Amino acid sequence: MALLEIDVLSKSFGGLQAVRDISLAVDDGEIVSLIGPNGAGKTTVFNLVTGYLPPSSGRIRFAGRDIVGLKPHTIAGLGLVRTFQITNVFPALSVFDNIVAAHYLKARVPLWKTWFRDRAVAAREATAHAAAEEVMGFLGLGHRRDMTAENLAYGELRLLELAIGLGAGPRMLLLDEPAAGLNTEESARLVTLLREIAGTRGITILIVEHDMNVVMEVSHRVVVMNFGEKIAEGSPEHVRQHEQVIEAYLGRGFEDEAPATPA
Ligand SMILES: Nc1ncnc2c1ncn2[C@@H]1O[C@H](COP(=O)(O)OP(=O)(O)O)[C@@H](O)[C@H]1O
Ligand SMILES: [Mg+2]
Repeated sequence: MALLEIDVLSKSFGGLQAVRDISLAVDDGEIVSLIGPNGAGKTTVFNLVTGYLPPSSGRIRFAGRDIVGLKPHTIAGLGLVRTFQITNVFPALSVFDNIVAAHYLKARVPLWKTWFRDRAVAAREATAHAAAEEVMGFLGLGHRRDMTAENLAYGELRLLELAIGLGAGPRMLLLDEPAAGLNTEESARLVTLLREIAGTRGITILIVEHDMNVVMEVSHRVVVMNFGEKIAEGSPEHVRQHEQVIEAYLGRGFEDEAPATPA
């Protein structure tokens, strides 16, 4: 059984069908990319899967459990964690504290419990701190440990988002355009990190990305959407040569599409 199973999923906004009969399965440890022109419905799929929007019809299962109707924080608590572009970073908190905060979000410890520093609280805090140190080391953010997020360079801020996602202890990560705005060197580094996250850490990844170099290098499988529908699916090589895919991207330069503005 796949870790994430999306079954004939649809979403309409008034008369606009943003997502139409999308079925998609992501296996444990896989990296799957969701690509398509702007307005194709990619972000809507993410919003449906993470509980930010109710589907018009269709089913979504994570680890065998029906997650339609669950609240976003409940879905995150199950281990299906989404990173947002910048928006879930606390600008005035340090890198370290941002990652620790992500851990507590998942743990959902009532704040009052932290007022009484009993042994369980102290142990949990030690665990959260150790996990944050580990994630910083892994992403190469250790030297930025005590810098406030607002003072980070753009590329490092994008890494912090990834750190916050990892800090929540996910089983699966949904990444919305993690390479947007990164320079060539930073994108190459991101590719290595994503491979390690899936390969070594065993975290499954579904990624929406416009940078085709990143998509082609990290994906085990690529799913292509256009006007709400799935128009192709397969290996990076397969979709690269797929006629409908090339058509959907025609005039946009499939090989070297400029990063789109984040939606
Ligand atoms: N909350 C919303 N209300 C109305 N229309 C929406 C909403 N979200 C997305 N749309 C529309 O649905 C379509 C798909 O959008 P989106 O999923 O953001 O595409 P993508 O992420 O592939 O660029 C677009 O036409 C967009 O304008
Ligand atoms: Mg989008």
